[in-house]
Amino acid sequence: MTADHETGPNHHHESYTHGHHPSVLSSHEWRTVANSDAYLIPDLVPGLHVLDIGCGPGTITVDLAQRVFPGHVTGVDAAEIVLEKARAHARDAGVDNVDFVVGDTYALDAEDDTYDLVHIHQMLHHLSDPVEALGEARRVAKPAGLVAAREVDYAGAIWYPLLPGLAKWAALYQKVHRSHGGEPDAGRRLKSWAMDAGFSEVDSTASVWCFSSTADREFWGGMWEKRVLESSFAVDAVDGGFATPADLTEISVAWREWADNPRAWLILPHGEVRCRA
Ligand SMILES: C[S@@+](CC[C@H](N)C(=O)[O-])C[C@H]1O[C@@H](n2cnc3c(N)ncnc32)[C@H](O)[C@@H]1O
Repeated sequence: MTADHETGPNHHHESYTHGHHPSVLSSHEWRTVANSDAYLIPDLVPGLHVLDIGCGPGTITVDLAQRVFPGHVTGVDAAEIVLEKARAHARDAGVDNVDFVVGDTYALDAEDDTYDLVHIHQMLHHLSDPVEALGEARRVAKPAGLVAAREVDYAGAIWYPLLPGLAKWAALYQKVHRSHGGEPDAGRRLKSWAMDAGFSEVDSTASVWCFSSTADREFWGGMWEKRVLESSFAVDAVDGGFATPADLTEISVAWREWADNPRAWLILPHGEVRCRA
């Protein structure tokens, strides 16, 4: 277990797959409302009281806060270490209608019917009981409020060129992610999870992350080039018996080759839901 793997198993017998290695955080810091929450932009009106669960390093959270000003956003995450980054990011951005607190998505420290908007981005696919977490989000949303979630679907990823190392990455990703109790193909299940959580109304849409420009290929491919060797993902892949160090090197080299290829392209689909209690 590496030092970046500080979000330990909880009573749901899951643990956060990626840890918070710098290569992992770079992926979360790239995220904004524009590239990750476009489906929600019409709902982000001034004055809202918002909860962002599993906020990570807070780039989306701070963006939400700017859009709902003079409203307020509280970011909650299980890992204090990312919240320090989130607070620093808010300070640097000069945004003060936001705060960040440690908390558990299954047992939020909030009264019933508190928030106009409860927001979740890319957290449910790490959980063993996403329906329970959505139910808890529903509890703290006002009756006329909104619970909005967006989740990735890794098996839906498509890319070019078809490098064998990237196919190996996709297969390994499924195994490592599932070994932590999460569901890597959450996007396709999100609507069904929301219906199981008892919402009266569930609007469901989809969108993709597309990595094609030189900068975006460098970001995504460069991140995985390191992440597959250096983060807790690497340790868990080897310790779990899912890959050898040689496999990880092959995957890392493939991501570098992909990032350097101006013809390379990749999309990751996401499911989205906007739910009313
Ligand atoms: C993939 S990150 C997403 C961060 C952010 N929402 C974003 O999209 O940039 C998932 C986050 O969920 C947090 N998390 C995992 N399990 C949690 C739990 N039970 N309660 C609260 N946060 C949790 C992790 O610590 C991690 O920061």
